[in-house]
Amino acid sequence: MSVAVALLVAGKGKRMRSHRPKVLHEIAGAPLYIHALHSTANLDVVTTVAVTGDDGDAVLKSCTDWGLTPRFARQPQQLGTGDALRYALNAMGDHTGPVLVLYGDTPLIRPDSLHRMITDLEHGSDLVVAGFHAGDPSGYGRMVTNADGRLQAIIESADTDATTCDIALCNSGLLCGERSNLSDLVNALDTENAAGEYYLTDIIGIAAERGQKSTVVIVPEEEAMGINTRAELARAEASMQNRLRSQALKAGTTLIDPATVYFSHDTVLAADVLIEPHVVFGRNVSVESGSTIRSFSRLESCHIGPGARIGPHAHIRPGTEVGPGAQVGNFVEVKASRLAAGVKANHLSYIGDADIGSKTNIGAGSVVCNYDGRTKHRTRIGEKAFIGSGSMLVAPLKIGDEALTAAGSVITEDVPSGARAF
Ligand code: UD1
Ligand code: MG
Repeated sequence: MSVAVALLVAGKGKRMRSHRPKVLHEIAGAPLYIHALHSTANLDVVTTVAVTGDDGDAVLKSCTDWGLTPRFARQPQQLGTGDALRYALNAMGDHTGPVLVLYGDTPLIRPDSLHRMITDLEHGSDLVVAGFHAGDPSGYGRMVTNADGRLQAIIESADTDATTCDIALCNSGLLCGERSNLSDLVNALDTENAAGEYYLTDIIGIAAERGQKSTVVIVPEEEAMGINTRAELARAEASMQNRLRSQALKAGTTLIDPATVYFSHDTVLAADVLIEPHVVFGRNVSVESGSTIRSFSRLESCHIGPGARIGPHAHIRPGTEVGPGAQVGNFVEVKASRLAAGVKANHLSYIGDADIGSKTNIGAGSVVCNYDGRTKHRTRIGEKAFIGSGSMLVAPLKIGDEALTAAGSVITEDVPSGARAF
């Protein structure tokens, strides 16, 4: 069944106390709203409308950075989630059929849960809402159900009384219904409530008065978590990291101490990779089979070939390709460089903007001086070269195959193949 997605991201996120829009705060290297969108992976999404507010330009720029092209609907004033959905529905073009409402601040929902919601809709519900049993319901809308478990109303936290306050079944905010029905319902909303807002959640009560059937799909509390504060952001990060650790273990990676390894949402590890404790992966890293990442290393936007050894205490920066069996040891930083098979750079070196041929050895304390104060220059080193300890290689520079630089040399001119430079 094809669905349209309404992604609500216009809220100010005041509780974050941030200059950045709430939904652009990140967990596992991706903004909150990107995780929400990833959860639609198993659905046939025909169009996505992002409802933005004052921070719309920042959200638009972020979407562009992430290669996304949703439609945008500007909500001029943040008058509540019901008002936001009205703008989304108006921007949906000629879509008829189901609309799935996602909150940009609810990043942990899983594809399977959204799939169950759409299935319930197909089976005759007028509205389907994802609910969860909250350990601590405060802040969440409480779900009022009747004897058959049908949803009758959602009462916002600020509007609860002594009875409804104790309801543990809470609203995740995620909801679906047919477009035309949702339009009718949001147009019937008013602002007679504690916050003086158009609560999207009030459509449940209105639907019940109209004899419509609203059902609840129960999801684990972890998936339903909405991020409104920095503390919740940290909790969501912890949940997401636990998920990514489990995925890595299932895929055949050894994590000696999983709780100390931090992944990006897109880290790709082959089977039989060994990760020692205290390793951090930034975005866009892939590591091939048989490689070991030793303790206290940080890797970002790089590819580590099979059987390589990284660290301990290595910093692998964007644009780096480490070839098969290569070794990057302690206190070595590598940036935008290609290390071919079997290269060794084991101690205290900086390698920036360099191409290093296979089996070349970079001696301890060597530095590729890639920056002249204005521009970055590249350095090319051939195969089986020997860069003596403490060599300063002043770029741009070419060092031939099997060339040698003596310990402590400052190399400012190209070195031919087989030559020794002092
Ligand atoms: C909302 C629900 C609550 C639910 C909780 C789950 C309502 C009225 N309440 O409360 O029942 O338990 O989520 O996390 O829906 N937004 C807009 N425009 C607005 C207001 C909000 O786009 O005018 C967006 C926000 O950017 C956010 C989402 O809607 O992504 C939810 O808004 P938020 O203010 O976080 O609602 P909660 O108070 O968390
Ligand atoms: Mg929220």
